[in-house]
Amino acid sequence: MTRIGLYPGTFDPLTYGHLDIMTRASHICDILVIGVAENSGKSPIFSLNERLEIIQEQMGLAQKKQKTNKEIIVKSFTGLLTDFAQTVEANFIIRGLRAVSDFEYEFQMASANRRLRGNLETIFLTASENQHFVASSLVKEIAKFGGDISSFVPPEVEARIKLYFSNT
Ligand code: PNS
Repeated sequence: MTRIGLYPGTFDPLTYGHLDIMTRASHICDILVIGVAENSGKSPIFSLNERLEIIQEQMGLAQKKQKTNKEIIVKSFTGLLTDFAQTVEANFIIRGLRAVSDFEYEFQMASANRRLRGNLETIFLTASENQHFVASSLVKEIAKFGGDISSFVPPEVEARIKLYFSNT
């Protein structure tokens, strides 16, 4: 049986924390689908297309580095995650857990998703030690005020974020 894992998120911007979860998630499934939520309610700094492009580029680089060619599909979605999970025939959802503060939100989301689709489990991967506090919102705030974000995001993403804030 082919195990399809779905890692959903807004990824605005993609951080080293996300990349860490993506790489580790790819090891526990046969096919990893990275679901990029449009999430216009969160007013993302990057368009959906840019976020898809960034993830494709970074996962390509990560796979080259690790010399793996696991099947990774990067796809956007709107609407309910449970509907998207059904469309891509995902067996489970994967989410990263950073700190205790994430727990309540993640617990609520996992429970609601299971209520909506009974057989859809959520598997949590704990963030690696050096990524425990890295959040996209924090990265955006630091970048907005000209702080150094190089340890939070890959250089290509850093360049795009800097360009964004230099134009706003
Ligand atoms: O990385 P994020 O922003 O924390 O990801 C949140 C995301 C996109 C996974 C969540 O907002 C989501 O699933 N949105 C789709 C709409 C939906 O299904 N909402 C109900 C979740 S219980």
